[in-house]
Amino acid sequence: MSDDPEELTRRTFVANATLTLGGIIGLGLAIPIAGALAPSTGAGTGRWAPLDDADWRALQAATEKPVQISFKLVGKDAYLPVGESAAFVWGIKTEMARFQKARPDVYDGSKSDLPYAPMAMGFALFSPVCPHLGCSVNWHDDVERFVCPCHGSQYDAQGAHVAGPAARGLDPLPLRERSGVAEVMWIRYAPTIADRLVVSYIS
Ligand code: FES
Repeated sequence: MSDDPEELTRRTFVANATLTLGGIIGLGLAIPIAGALAPSTGAGTGRWAPLDDADWRALQAATEKPVQISFKLVGKDAYLPVGESAAFVWGIKTEMARFQKARPDVYDGSKSDLPYAPMAMGFALFSPVCPHLGCSVNWHDDVERFVCPCHGSQYDAQGAHVAGPAARGLDPLPLRERSGVAEVMWIRYAPTIADRLVVSYIS
């Protein structure tokens, strides 16, 4: 290796440039990854979406049976491009005391672990995303349970986990009414674990 001062200066420049470029690339990758993985709390981060009016009225007329309620996701989920897609939640009509008793994974007594009300106006909305590994659950009238087609996790009508590998019950989502329109906020929680850690909002 040459000890020529000019050669040393050139090698030092190349080494520094490489380190700087690597740092910029690493930072560029680290920021979105950290943003995607960092859990956040609160229901104020996402965007409210109006529920399909006919489905909402069907839920209001429902008795014990959960109702599938459509809405449109408009926004950006993690790295997906901004766009609009059809989505749905499951809704149930229930009573506070009954729901609190049925969902110890959501309530500690009468206090909820979630940073928003898990039920509102006498209804609870559940994400259809199975908390095990993310397949969509469906309601089965014959067994009166939500059943996941992937690995068989099952949930009762209140969303409580009753069978299969999932570590928690179905995730309640924020519900509100504005100017006569019912709205939901879409939140995706981390799979496989008992705690609810936010993975993404639509925002
Ligand atoms: S994804 Fe639902 S049981 Fe595995």
